[in-house]
Amino acid sequence: MKNIAVIGAGTMGNGIAHTFAQSGFNVQLIDISEASLERGMNTIAKNLDRMVAKEKITEANKSETLGNITTHTNTEDGVENVDLVVEAATENIDLKLKIFKQLDDVCSENTILATNTSSISITQIAAVTSRPEKVIGMHFMNPVPIMKLVEIIRGYNTSDEVTKTIMELSKTLGKVPTEVNDYPGFVANRILMPMLNESIETLYNGVAGVEEIDTVMKLGMAHPMGPLQLADFIGLDVCLSILNVMYDGFKNPKYAPCPLLVNMVRAGKLGIKSGEGFYDYSESRKAEKVSSQFSK
Ligand SMILES: NC(=O)c1ccc[n+]([C@@H]2O[C@H](COP(=O)([O-])OP(=O)(O)OC[C@H]3O[C@@H](n4cnc5c(N)ncnc54)[C@H](O)[C@@H]3O)[C@@H](O)[C@H]2O)c1
Repeated sequence: MKNIAVIGAGTMGNGIAHTFAQSGFNVQLIDISEASLERGMNTIAKNLDRMVAKEKITEANKSETLGNITTHTNTEDGVENVDLVVEAATENIDLKLKIFKQLDDVCSENTILATNTSSISITQIAAVTSRPEKVIGMHFMNPVPIMKLVEIIRGYNTSDEVTKTIMELSKTLGKVPTEVNDYPGFVANRILMPMLNESIETLYNGVAGVEEIDTVMKLGMAHPMGPLQLADFIGLDVCLSILNVMYDGFKNPKYAPCPLLVNMVRAGKLGIKSGEGFYDYSESRKAEKVSSQFSK
């Protein structure tokens, strides 16, 4: 494998493109938005600069990595002759089904189609293509160039051969691939999201405040970040949507999102991306807790 396309140049897409390009792959980075492509390439350049400053790579490595990436706003142009497409577009089921139908039509029959979805069923995505054995989940973690794990998700029909190819490919990126089956939340979010939800429930029940809950988990369990701050970083809307996928998928109340989480999303408090979640991220009050709003 040498030629890869990445669909979506947002948070995950630019990190995935960076990682493949730094390992010597030719990367076609595709986004419907010219502005996203520009932002994505700027982020990659900035992240490479940081690596040069830390002497992890040379200036020559940086130029080579950037030279390995070509950008496109037209999917058809970008996926011509690629061995693998990694889709990292917005998390929306209808959008993903549309993209995979199009990819199935325009890609060579040998092209493997992977998705970086956090929660949508790989089996459902594969079902809209004529090659479900070549559709697989490649769930990279954020920030992609740094995080070692890739959760490799086998859809119901994903073949052994394709799984093996993608596991090996992930190793050539310096990652640690871990194979899991396609059930709601896969493994990472099935375990993480109930913990985040329980932290919110603990706050909602008035057991402790934001900082107290985060301190218990940071200092008591050696977590690098408290669960409420982590939820802010992931995005409270994203947490809510993944919990809903698990709640619907298992029909089990243990995954029901906490009413406080639902209310905060309705109020537009989405965490770091909206400037406020469990903490305030505005310039004047950076990372100050705003727990007074969460008394029962
Ligand atoms: N953000 C995370 O921490 C994280 C972690 C793991 C997995 N994911 C998954 O990765 C995927 C991308 O998430 P993100 O956080 O990078 O989103 P994002 O909003 O930062 O980026 C999505 C990009 O997709 C582009 N896009 C939308 N429709 C498109 C289309 N038809 N063709 C090409 N590009 C299109 C948008 O313009 C945008 O630039 C989602 O499936 C998400 O669940 C996210």
